[in-house]
This record gives sequence, C-alpha cells and structure tokens, in this order.
Amino acid sequence: MTALELASLDATLPAAPSARAAERGRLVRALASLIAQLQAWERDATDHAREVAALSVDLALRVGVVSDEIRQIRLGALLHDVGKLAVPDEILAKPGPLDVGEWELMRRHPGAGERYLEPVLERSEAVTHGCVETVLAIVRSHHERWDGRGYPDRLAGEEIPLGARIVAVADAFQAMTERRPYRSPLSRTAALAELSRGAGRQFDPSLVSLLTAA
Ligand SMILES: [Fe+2]
Repeated sequence: MTALELASLDATLPAAPSARAAERGRLVRALASLIAQLQAWERDATDHAREVAALSVDLALRVGVVSDEIRQIRLGALLHDVGKLAVPDEILAKPGPLDVGEWELMRRHPGAGERYLEPVLERSEAVTHGCVETVLAIVRSHHERWDGRGYPDRLAGEEIPLGARIVAVADAFQAMTERRPYRSPLSRTAALAELSRGAGRQFDPSLVSLLTAA
C-alpha cells in the first residue's frame, strides 16, 4: 500500500459512530497490513518504539502510575508513531530539514494515528473501554510541548495527558541516543543534558527531573 493509498484510506474514515461500526472489519485488516509494512520498512523505527515503550513504563512507575494505566502507556508508546504510515517515505527518510510543505504533512501523523487506531482499539478485548482514551491520547498528543507550542492541539502543561508527556520525554531521549544515518548517537549524559535544556519548554520538568535523577 502506497502513502497515497494510505492518505486515501485516512480520508475515507467514517465520522459517524454507526458508519464506523460498519467499517471496522475493513479497517482492522488495513491496520494489520499497515503495521506489517511498518515492520518491514522501518525495523529501526519499531526497535525505537520498543525502547520508547520500555523507558515510558520505567518513567510511569517512578511517577506512581498504577497497573492498568501502565499497560495503556506501554501500548500507546509502542503505537505512538503509527500515523507516520500516512507520511510519504521520502519525507520520513529525508536527512536534512523539512520544508514548510513537508512539515505540514509530518504534523498530521499524530491525528492520523489516532484515526487509524480508534476503531481497532474499540473492538479489542485486550483494551477495556475506559483505557482506549488513554492510548489514543498518547498517540494524538505525543508532540505537544509543555510551553504550548507543540502540535496538533497546542495543549500546554498539565493539559497534555500524562501518558503523552511521558512518551514525549522517552521518545526524545531514545532518539538522541540512537545512531542515525546523518549523525552519531549522543551519550546518555549528553542526552540528559539536552533534555534538561528543554525542561519547562518542550518537556514536563518533573519528568525530566525523574529521569536525570536515575
Ligand atoms: Fe511522532
């Protein structure tokens, strides 16, 4: 399935609950296909997601989050970037800065991920009804910033769901400490220093403190 076809799928997602129910089977098959392609095309990305999930659980435990929500935070962390399947490959793989149009497409991935996952999670026996919202909130809000300058909703501070704040910190730390085609990985010390510089601006300062105190 091409990025264009994925964009078409996104555009056809039903809006009304009754229509959504009728589309669920097709969407589940489509999502399974998308995830299989993600794993085939972006092994590094899925390894990244597993590392982000492990660190997110670690942070959530330190915050005092309890069992059910820990499971939802882990699931949200694993799936946080699934909406990138709607972003063209050439943008995802571009080594240099994105131009304005490319950023516009990239910034759609949290909302796209939420729309892909909602019908799947709602029918999953592994995710109880109240917890679907936790997972979807992580997927939608993992690029919000503590100072309100993030996307897609420009939430600020504790308006941002806790799970999304946790995944944002874990995602940034993992990204900095992983090797990329265009740069060497930062050391743990350097990555923590970079997170500290973003505390109170990009990141929840209390979460950065917990990570740096480890
Ligand atoms: Fe993302």
